[in-house]
Amino acid sequence: MSIVTIVGMGFVGLTTAAIFAEKGITVYGVDNDVKKIKKISQAEAPFFEPELGPLLKNVITSGTLKPTMSLQTAIKNSSLIFICVGTPMKPDGSVNLDYIDKVSIEIGRCLKSANHPVVCVKSTVPPKTTEDIVASNIKKMGGNFGIAMTPEFLREGSAVTDSRNPHLIVIGSNDDRTHNIVEEFFRSVYGQTTRILHTNIVSAELIKYANNSFLATKISFVNTIANVCNRIPGADVDVIAQAIGADPRIGPQFLNAGPGYGGSCFPKDVSGFINYCKKIGYDPILLRATDAVNKRQVCTILDLLRQNLKNIRNKPITVLGTAFKKDTDDIRESVSIKLVKELNKSGARVSIHDPMALENAKQVLGNKVRYATSTIDAIRNASAVILMTDWDEYKSLDRTIFLKHTGKCLVIDTRRILNIDSDKNVHYIALGRSQ
Ligand code: UGA
Repeated sequence: MSIVTIVGMGFVGLTTAAIFAEKGITVYGVDNDVKKIKKISQAEAPFFEPELGPLLKNVITSGTLKPTMSLQTAIKNSSLIFICVGTPMKPDGSVNLDYIDKVSIEIGRCLKSANHPVVCVKSTVPPKTTEDIVASNIKKMGGNFGIAMTPEFLREGSAVTDSRNPHLIVIGSNDDRTHNIVEEFFRSVYGQTTRILHTNIVSAELIKYANNSFLATKISFVNTIANVCNRIPGADVDVIAQAIGADPRIGPQFLNAGPGYGGSCFPKDVSGFINYCKKIGYDPILLRATDAVNKRQVCTILDLLRQNLKNIRNKPITVLGTAFKKDTDDIRESVSIKLVKELNKSGARVSIHDPMALENAKQVLGNKVRYATSTIDAIRNASAVILMTDWDEYKSLDRTIFLKHTGKCLVIDTRRILNIDSDKNVHYIALGRSQ
């Protein structure tokens, strides 16, 4: 059975490593962050992800997942090396390829002592990166290797389930030997019936950008409809989404209107793709609109607040949920954090709550807000409560609870998970439904 190295123990790298290890494959999980490696070695996930804890316990105890800081040790015996390091967004919106650059030089150094392995890029990278940076760096160091690009489609919050049941495996390679090795490996993990698409490297790189950009565009589209609904008495975005989603040409998923997409992928990938298109002389108008609609969504929420509360200076305002979506403690590009910053600028007295992500929120918001210890503590005496993340525990909030703990308040539900009839004390507004 193959021995595999995965470089980069983030969401994608660690989950993938654990899933491969679960199948009995020996997997070296490499990262240069000593704290991360220590935690993983103790079978603890360095971030919150449902199902990952027990899975790690299983593969660390059985010894199939071997966390290490030594790329050399890992690569020596591996027939496949997956690169899963981050490709964050630069301040100008382009993709930062520093980690890709460094790690491929390192791999090149170690490959001298290895036996013709295949290096697969799993990180999201602009077209040509796999060949022009990764393969080129490794080649410069003199290693003998095959090169492939295998994009990843797992989501945070359901990373384990997604990784166990991929809807498709894309193998981008430019030669048959590499393709066969990678396909054989994936078949050993996922079986003979799993759908595999073979393409060249550059198309594999583009598939990932196209996939994320399409999903982001679907969200900006439905948010556009939501903003129209807000202005038309009787209109309801959810009914419209249900109807258009029933059209098999559209499909029901990713039509939940809300505060706008956040997280470590969509904002970065849409922006990185726009930037890349411009570099090759094409203005991607549609993607610019997707991005613009998304960025404006926080203003829509602030407008609703101001229209209904008039002055927000010195008013106690509560934001429920700081994670970019439920079931994660990730606050990267969270629209909620952007909203809190805007509220602070306007002089509101902000309280925030999140079942998982408050510690991460503290890192960026410091002492500028009050950190509530429970949902009730968060809403107590608030003039307005803005629900930003669709955590299940918020679903039980009703008019009686708001009345009891606030006396009188405005509730803005950006995810439409509450069901409250407004009265003179509790004024309920759902984003995407007219008042
Ligand atoms: C996304 C993609 O869904 C994955 O397929 C991809 O692998 C991943 O990016 C990546 O490139 O690594 P993720 O960012 O974890 O996954 O989360 P999503 O569930 O896609 O949600 C992204 C954002 O869109 C969240 O803020 C979410 O609240 C928002 N969203 C999603 C909506 O507002 N409405 C929807 O209908 C769906």
